[in-house]
Amino acid sequence: MDVSSEEIKAYLSNDIFRLISLAADEMQLECYVIGGYVRDFFLCRPSDDIDIVTVGKGIELAESVARKLGKRTRINVYKNFGTAQIKHKEYEIEFVGARKESYSRDSRKPVVEDGTLEDDQKRRDFTINALAFCLNADRFGELVDPFNGLQDLSDLLIRTPLDPDITFSDDPLRMMRAVRFASQLGFDIYAETFDAIERNAGRIEIISKERIADELNKIVLSPKPSVGFILLEKTGLLDRIFPELMALKGAETRDGIGHKDNFYHTLMVLDNIARQTDDLWLRWAALLHDIAKPQTKRWDPKLGWTFHNHNYVGEKMVPKIFRRMKLPQNEKMKFVQKMVSLHMRPMQLVEEEVTDSAVRRLLFDAGDDIDDLMTLCEADITSKNPVKVRRFLDNFKIVRRKLKEIEEKDRVRNFQPPIDGNEIMTVFGLGPGREVGILKSTIKEAILDGIIPNEYDAAYSFMLEKASEMGLYPTKKND
Ligand code: CTP
Repeated sequence: MDVSSEEIKAYLSNDIFRLISLAADEMQLECYVIGGYVRDFFLCRPSDDIDIVTVGKGIELAESVARKLGKRTRINVYKNFGTAQIKHKEYEIEFVGARKESYSRDSRKPVVEDGTLEDDQKRRDFTINALAFCLNADRFGELVDPFNGLQDLSDLLIRTPLDPDITFSDDPLRMMRAVRFASQLGFDIYAETFDAIERNAGRIEIISKERIADELNKIVLSPKPSVGFILLEKTGLLDRIFPELMALKGAETRDGIGHKDNFYHTLMVLDNIARQTDDLWLRWAALLHDIAKPQTKRWDPKLGWTFHNHNYVGEKMVPKIFRRMKLPQNEKMKFVQKMVSLHMRPMQLVEEEVTDSAVRRLLFDAGDDIDDLMTLCEADITSKNPVKVRRFLDNFKIVRRKLKEIEEKDRVRNFQPPIDGNEIMTVFGLGPGREVGILKSTIKEAILDGIIPNEYDAAYSFMLEKASEMGLYPTKKND
């Protein structure tokens, strides 16, 4: 990788680095910017997280920098960890004294001693994350790279600076980080590093669910998430953190009839959707859309393999999976559930006839999420037969056109029937009960089926007609 010292100096031209340099020189401390910020310079990725390491006195340096930045600068000191953090404009700057440390086997609590820069670099996760630029004036911008991180960057390799068994037992989350960086950056994991992940996969159990979920989300958000999921599967991590996804793997054949491998199908759908959207939750919906296929799989001698109701069973599995993984239990999760539950609807529409009433129902059920649902459904087309794919995509165009037409005409997206339960009770002098429910849903169905327009007067007359069939008559005249 060819970079001139001028380019590095330009990268470090921000005032914040000049101030840190000044403060470090005044205190006669060796000082470096290290880790992701340096890596991202070589990868030309934007980065707002700056990690500063100094040989000794990390907190004191941070305090001096904060004073130089002015009274209103926010500084947080974490004495137990020997770190301090400053927030300045869009930057988060973390200061730490160079450390030699090792973690006890059963927790992440580090045993820390002061160390040299190289001690600090060697206990970092990967060579590409152990690069440092010196900030002291006399060596400003000098690259310190004792583990050939730069070479690994140009070879697109994830490799640990130390024996990988040590690096991963220091912090087993790094196994997931290896996979995440491979997926995010399109890198390979160095063979010995990979083997160590396989050997140490069981140690992921001591890591908190939240930290695992963070890495998983970054994999889901990477440009081609299948890279990450295939690595998780091959290293043995997937089985431990996401057994439901692992269960999709494999294809059974009976009487010469096989079904597709739903693991690879799911990953293809995820890659497809990743080309269309950066929405984390829509990507999660793609990952989970067929999650209930193993539970619902049946062999029927007439029909072959069936997965009846896998969308509804899948919808019910989402909260359990989200709870276990410490993913949010809020409207994001509900959105994923809704997508899983409805994911086959647009396709069924295509396979059957695209009638107004079917389109109206789909609009009613999907509401504002209709566009996301269509994106998911289109991503779900993974057939290898180009003629079939073309046909589906063409039919999809028809569905999209119809959706637009019907929405403009009938406004059923987010539709509330023009007559509600309270009004029904008042008109017929009824208390809450079955009859109110029947009338309410009869009106809704009639509108969705296009029997009556989505308007008050039409709904009112229709209600009177249906009620009289049930032997109900208004006690109050409508005026
Ligand atoms: N690091 C590490 N082991 C970890 C986490 C972090 O050695 N488990 C080190 C790496 O040197 C890393 C630096 O701490 O570069 C900063 O970590 P972090 O901010 O979590 O990650 P980045 O590498 O900056 O990447 P990203 O911002 O994409 O998470």
